[in-house]
Amino acid sequence: MSRLVYILNGPNLNLLGKRQPEIYGRETLADVERDCAALAKELGLSIKFLQSNREYEIIDWVHEAREKASGIVINPAAFTHTSVAILDALNTFDGPVIEVHISNVHKREEFRHHSFVSGRADAVIAGAGTQGYQFGLRRVAHLLDQAKSAKP
Ligand code: DQA
Repeated sequence: MSRLVYILNGPNLNLLGKRQPEIYGRETLADVERDCAALAKELGLSIKFLQSNREYEIIDWVHEAREKASGIVINPAAFTHTSVAILDALNTFDGPVIEVHISNVHKREEFRHHSFVSGRADAVIAGAGTQGYQFGLRRVAHLLDQAKSAKP
């Protein structure tokens, strides 16, 4: 399998940098993509970086990742707290899944404390700002390296 990692972003993250900057910061999603691409190169990974405001599109991308990717880093945004469908899709994926939240959801409103996606995620990173994506990518690289060296 390739070392391709899908980085999936849920609703409203297209407005990163403009949307509630006191919570999410001033970096745009294009900045995050650029930094992820640079780090991926260093780690010997390639990435496909995607964002959608539509739940079905994220589900379709997880299905696509089943065929093409070795790992997933996902910030499901508000779908984190509502979507059994995204959880079900992620449960069909065999490789590492890392859930990322820019903000510390546990310090925020109670409805953000529950994540359906955490039922599948191998790790959850919250509150590290956009750096969380980098931590997520590093973790995927580590898990893929471990899996490779465990093979006979
Ligand atoms: C978020 C946290 C979610 O609760 C929120 O709905 C988002 C972004 C984060 O990155 O901190 O849209 O996933």
